Amino acid sequence: MTLRPTLEPPRVGARLAGTGSATPSRVLTNADFEKMMDTSDEWIVQRTGIHTRRIIDKSADENALTLATQALTAALADARMTGSDLDLLILATISMEMHCPPTACQLIAAVGGQNCGAYDLSAACCSFVFAMNTAWGLIRSGMYRNVAVVGADTISTFMDYDSRGRSTAILFGDAAGAVIMRATDDTSKGLIAQTMHSDGNRWVDLYIPEKMSHFPEGVEPNPEALHRVQMNGKGVFKFAVSTFPDVIAQTLDAADLKPDEVDHYICHQSNARILEAARERFGLPKEKLYVNIDRYGNTVSASVPLCFDELRRAGRVHEGQRVMFVAFGGGLTWGTSLWQL
Ligand code: ACO
Repeated sequence: MTLRPTLEPPRVGARLAGTGSATPSRVLTNADFEKMMDTSDEWIVQRTGIHTRRIIDKSADENALTLATQALTAALADARMTGSDLDLLILATISMEMHCPPTACQLIAAVGGQNCGAYDLSAACCSFVFAMNTAWGLIRSGMYRNVAVVGADTISTFMDYDSRGRSTAILFGDAAGAVIMRATDDTSKGLIAQTMHSDGNRWVDLYIPEKMSHFPEGVEPNPEALHRVQMNGKGVFKFAVSTFPDVIAQTLDAADLKPDEVDHYICHQSNARILEAARERFGLPKEKLYVNIDRYGNTVSASVPLCFDELRRAGRVHEGQRVMFVAFGGGLTWGTSLWQL
C-alpha cells in the first residue's frame, strides 16, 4: 500500500483574540415553572442546580441569528476587528433559521463581512467544541488567519412549557457566545490536544423527531412529540458522569499534563451534579471549573463560549494560561479542546 506523505503544515499558532456573548431578556425562574407545571423550586435545584434560564421572546423577533449577531459583534469589538477582517465564520448550532441558507451566511452579512467563508456546524451540545477544533485545523493549515467561531442556540423552541415538558423544559435556556481566533507567528499559542467522539448507536437517548418515522423502535410515534426534545434523562446523566472525567483524563494524557496544570476547565453546563462529579474526580478547586448553569441552564452550543466570555470579562483569563473546553451531547457526542493561550 502506498501512503501519501503527510504535508508538514506551516509553522503557525493561534490566539483567542476576543470573546462575546448574548442572552435573551426574558427570564424564567423556577417559581415561573411552578405556575406552569407540576414541579418545585426544590426539585429543580436539587436535581440540576438551575435557578433561572433565559429564553427568546418571539414577539420581539429574537432568534438564534439575533443572539449570534450580538455575541459576534461583541467579540469583534473585543478583538478590535470588524466583520470585514474575518476570512472564515463557523456557526455552531442546532437552531438554524432555515435548512438553506446556512444561518452563518446571514450572520456574516449582519456584521458586514465579505469574501468570507461561512457555514453551520451541527453536533448537538458538542457543536462549539468541535467547531473550535475544526477552526484550529484550518488556521494551522495556513489557509485561514482570522476565524470567528460562534455557538448559538434557541432550544426553547423545541420545548413544551406545560406538564408535557417538565422533564426537559426546566433544564434548558437560549444564548449565544463567540470567540475570534487569529493566526500568529508565536507557535507556542494554540491548540495543544483535542478529542472528538461519537456513538451513533445511542442517538435514541436524545433526539428531536421531525417526522413520525423518526421515533425509534419501541417508542409509540406521537404527533405531539414532534419537534420536541426527547431525552432519556437518567441514561444521559449516567453517560455524562463517567464520560466527562474520562475524556478530560484522555486529553490530559495526550498533552502530558497533570489536572492542576490546566488553569480553567470550561465545561458544557448540563447539570451542576455532573460538573461537581468531574471536579471531585480530579480534586480541582472550585475556581478552576466555572459554573453558570444556575443562571442560564443548559444553552446547548452556547454554553461553553458563554462561560468563557464571562470568565474573560471577569479578568480571570490571561495569556499564558491553559484552558480546556469540554462538551458532551446528543449523538451521542463528546469531545475536548485544550488550548495554550
Ligand atoms: N419536577 C418534578 N418532578 C419531575 C420533574 C420536574 N420538573 N421532571 C421529572 N420529574 C419526576 C419524574 O417524572 C420521576 O417521577 P416518577 O419517579 O414518579 O416516575 C421523578 O421525578 C424522577 O425522575 P428522573 O428522571 O429519574 O430524575 P433524575 O434524578 O434522573 O433527574 C434529570 C432528571 C435532571 C433530567 C437528570 O436525569 C439529568 O440531568 N440528566 C442529564 C440530562 C442532560 O444532561 N441532558 C443534556 C445533555 S446534552 C445536551 O445538552 C443537549
